[in-house]
Amino acid sequence: MKQEKLRKLLNDMSLEEKIGQLVQLSGEFYKANDISLGPQQKLGITQKIVDLSGSVLNVTGAKATKEVQDHQMSVQPHHIPMLFMADIIYGYKTVFPIPLGLGATWDPELVRKGFNIAADEGSAAGNHVSFAPMVDVVHDARWGRVLESPGEDPYLNSVFAKSMVEGFQDKLKDGAGQVACVKHFAGYGGVEAGREYNTVDMSISNLYQNYLPPYKAAVDAGSKMVMSSLTSLNGVPTTGDKWLLDDVLRKAWGFNGLIISDYASIYELIKHGFAKDETDAAHKALNATVDIDMKSPCYAKRLQELVTDGKLDETKIDEATWRVLLLKNELGLFEDPYRSVSEEREAKSILSDSKRKVARELADKALVLLQNKNGILPLKKDEKIALIGPYANEKLLLGMWAVHGDPNTSVTIAEGIKEIAGDNLKTAKGTDLIRDAHLLKEIGYFTDEEIDKMISSEKVEQKNNDEAVKIAQTADTIVLTLGESTLEAGEAGAKTKLTLPENQLHLIDRLSKLGKKIVLITISGRPLVLTNVVDKVDAIIEAWFPGTEGGHAIADILYGKVNPSGRLTMTFPYAVGQEPIYYNHLSTGRPQVGSQHVGRFVSKYLDAPVTPLYPFGYGLSYGSSEYKDLKLSSHKLTRNSSIKVKLTVKNTGGYDRREIVQLYIHDQVASIVQPVKRLIDFKAVKVPRGQTKEVEFEIKASELTFYDNLGRDYLENGDFDVFVGKSSADCLKETFELSE
Ligand code: BGC
Repeated sequence: MKQEKLRKLLNDMSLEEKIGQLVQLSGEFYKANDISLGPQQKLGITQKIVDLSGSVLNVTGAKATKEVQDHQMSVQPHHIPMLFMADIIYGYKTVFPIPLGLGATWDPELVRKGFNIAADEGSAAGNHVSFAPMVDVVHDARWGRVLESPGEDPYLNSVFAKSMVEGFQDKLKDGAGQVACVKHFAGYGGVEAGREYNTVDMSISNLYQNYLPPYKAAVDAGSKMVMSSLTSLNGVPTTGDKWLLDDVLRKAWGFNGLIISDYASIYELIKHGFAKDETDAAHKALNATVDIDMKSPCYAKRLQELVTDGKLDETKIDEATWRVLLLKNELGLFEDPYRSVSEEREAKSILSDSKRKVARELADKALVLLQNKNGILPLKKDEKIALIGPYANEKLLLGMWAVHGDPNTSVTIAEGIKEIAGDNLKTAKGTDLIRDAHLLKEIGYFTDEEIDKMISSEKVEQKNNDEAVKIAQTADTIVLTLGESTLEAGEAGAKTKLTLPENQLHLIDRLSKLGKKIVLITISGRPLVLTNVVDKVDAIIEAWFPGTEGGHAIADILYGKVNPSGRLTMTFPYAVGQEPIYYNHLSTGRPQVGSQHVGRFVSKYLDAPVTPLYPFGYGLSYGSSEYKDLKLSSHKLTRNSSIKVKLTVKNTGGYDRREIVQLYIHDQVASIVQPVKRLIDFKAVKVPRGQTKEVEFEIKASELTFYDNLGRDYLENGDFDVFVGKSSADCLKETFELSE
């Protein structure tokens, strides 16, 4: 539709109709169109509001979206099509590893391909918008939502923000893409103590330096939508934060797309104590330029009275409505409200072989080999394997935010191994995943009766243990699959204990006494504390929630079909009490190494090391390699020049390797204290066995800027350390000086 025609449409719309475009309800409001449904009454939503609303949340499937679209088109006075939005966070039906695993691939191009696939499946199923990428920087493994983020590093999250947004939107014009909606703006990952929905309070320099860059990268990559967060930032709930949304996002960054609230977050301005009632909440959110109210009654019920009472200028509503209409028009919905949606396309698109192949490749690269004592991995085809643990035959490998995925389509670990090991494989459950009734109750989805059934009796548990020991005794190698349940990680999955539960530890204890080789595969949505198991097992593979092709990928790594190359993008703590722990922390006045103080009066813990169990950037591959000959093209950098950083990477072992060569800097002296290290670049380099490769980086002065507490960026002359290495804790070092 031409812009003039669209303008005319806006002018012809009643105030009520315009407000409808700013309201987003969820699927249950449209099923059978029954106004007697509970949530409607609870929110005070009338059928009229339902009929006038402009978008809907989490209705998916070509058939279901068509039905809602048909209805909506028939009841809307101006036949304005509906926008369908859904949480397609890391795959729709073909589910990839959780984003923390996608981060560990250090392969933004492959992730982009993955998001092309998610968008293809999602759009075929009638969804126009994905509520992703989630690029909150995460520092605290207690927070369940670390699962949804690529990790703790602002640079790396920015790289993935771009590839994910492009992945969604690449094919938008052809009807095979989806609009990206970056979230949760801003700083949600900084929730205090890792407690869900808790306060976020941080310095402005920290916000600009660490938290904002990934969202900015998503906006720069063209993300057409942004979602505000559920939390407050420095005392202001972000959904009502005019400074953050209007001054920073729209004016300073030039974002002219749609801002949507998070689920009920406009209403929650009242609970935050930031708005006095629904009217005040609606006023504050609209004033902050939030266009769409997701799942709260505030816009639907209160905007009209604000205008008629003369408290709100109707042009504010026009501006927001205009942005909604623009997006609908850009998607071509006025010409074809059903776009490229059909049940045939959907059936063809979903879970095709080529899509599964990408899911497998992503999972192959996402798995991180954390330990491999005496090189016990890879396994040999003819070894007798006892695959033990609650995940051995489990299909629930998708993780909490794969809300549209079907676990029945995923490959189990046993199925994956069986394809290689054949009759050499025996499996046993060994123990329950969770035996803690209180935890199961708090998870919130199960009745008491269901919980009773989920926890085996002591007798059955003992029998499961014994069976595991029995098959282990006849095996060459034990492969143990332990970890957390899908519902322990993800939204509202905050925890204070990050070790494996006691029943799982007990099983490890029993099996470790058999004197057999043990490989532990951890399934988790977060870094676990593995300190108390590293000495009891030989090898450890962090497999996250690996997705639809998880079982195949785990077998690929176990048997060396693929040499593991995943590297952690979030620190694995030594003890939960170290949280929040992240590699790019600021320098302190009394570092444990290098302080003039010795012994007690340095920055440390009395009962645990200050270092993590596994640092950011860490991961093993089969074989070995050596990084050497780090050289700079110059030890002087001026503002308009650059320096080249070169090193040699030598494959010194018997396997082809994919090296993730990481480049960090440290600003030795600055007017704002700087991180001890910060990643500014990386290269994934294939080095075949027996070969040596030269790796080269370029450092430009613009990569050395930092922010002050007014959000201004600075570049200060002085000395910098350059580190290049295999992880944030294993680097070669050089120095250079920046001058005018
Ligand atoms: C989450 C968002 C999600 C939304 C819609 C909220 O609870 O915080 O990430 O997009 O629900 O499902």
